[in-house]
Amino acid sequence: MVSVIVVVFAVVCLFIPTVRTSEDLWKLECQPTVGIAAQTTDIRCSIRCPIKCSGHIELVGVALTKVKQEKPVFEHIINETPSGDPRFSLVNPVKDPSLQLSDTVFSDEGEYEYYVATNMGEKTERLSISVIAKYRDPVTNSWPESVTDGGPVDLYCNASDGYPAGTIHWFDKSENNLTINSIMTKSIKDTNGSKSVALSSKLPFKSIHSILAPFRCVVFNSKFVKEGEKTFQIMLKWGSEQEHSNTRNIVAGVMVIGSLTAGLLFALLFCRRRSVQNVRQASAQPILSDYDPGKTADPDLETGTETGTD
Ligand SMILES: *[C@@H]1O[C@H](CO)[C@@H](O)[C@H](O)[C@H]1NC(C)=O
Ligand SMILES: *[C@@H]1O[C@H](CO)[C@@H](O)[C@H](O)[C@H]1NC(C)=O
Repeated sequence: MVSVIVVVFAVVCLFIPTVRTSEDLWKLECQPTVGIAAQTTDIRCSIRCPIKCSGHIELVGVALTKVKQEKPVFEHIINETPSGDPRFSLVNPVKDPSLQLSDTVFSDEGEYEYYVATNMGEKTERLSISVIAKYRDPVTNSWPESVTDGGPVDLYCNASDGYPAGTIHWFDKSENNLTINSIMTKSIKDTNGSKSVALSSKLPFKSIHSILAPFRCVVFNSKFVKEGEKTFQIMLKWGSEQEHSNTRNIVAGVMVIGSLTAGLLFALLFCRRRSVQNVRQASAQPILSDYDPGKTADPDLETGTETGTD
């Protein structure tokens, strides 16, 4: 009996160091994963060795299980057909334990345990997946729609269908940060596990100066990464600066058309007079002798002035 115990003890003692060295030989490391809804997510994991080993370690099989669930969501024994959710796959089935997840959905969010078996032992590592959704391009408007220079106005910049809640910043033409004056509204929607947030930022002015325009609003996601931006002009009402320049343009246009018309009338007048004179020269010599060069006006054409001078 005693000899059996001794043998068992000896065997255990022999095994413990080998098991420990195998444990220290490599480590499984997984980065926290942020996936984008409806896109492919890379779940980056790697085998790390204190001493060079990567060339010798080969995967035998992997299994990914959601914490508190029994059944793995994905299982792949190398050289066999993978089982579980077909959206998961191993990036490089021999050397690399990294996974890919296509068509990411919000229900993929959570904590997982990732089991990796190799020719040099096995490891289990926790990994987390969070899912975000990109905001649509922002849309802008002002209320009232047309603005009086120096008058009140609210500018709006809205971005929808993102997740989780992000934020919107405002800048004027000279890149001054106006965000502090703005008011953010976030409305959260959750329809059948598809979560989204609609952001609306209002930038109110008691008295706006058109010289500050155009304005720019920038949409950031929850990780403060810029996702979109929009530059927009305000529409100025009659009586404000832009309209003055419009009036000036109209006046200039009228003047051009007016002078063209006047020029045309002069040309017509001149041609008519010359033809009348030619006719008189040819057919009525006596009239020509009566002709007074001081009188330039032709009675046929300008009866009004003629009656005055005669
Ligand atoms: C943005 O949202 C605000 C508040 O919900 C709304 O009044 C405004 O009309 C929206 N603007 C656009 C361009 O959707
Ligand atoms: C603009 O102002 C906001 C709030 O005051 C601040 O959080 C943000 O970092 C500023 N952005 C820049 C680019 O200075």
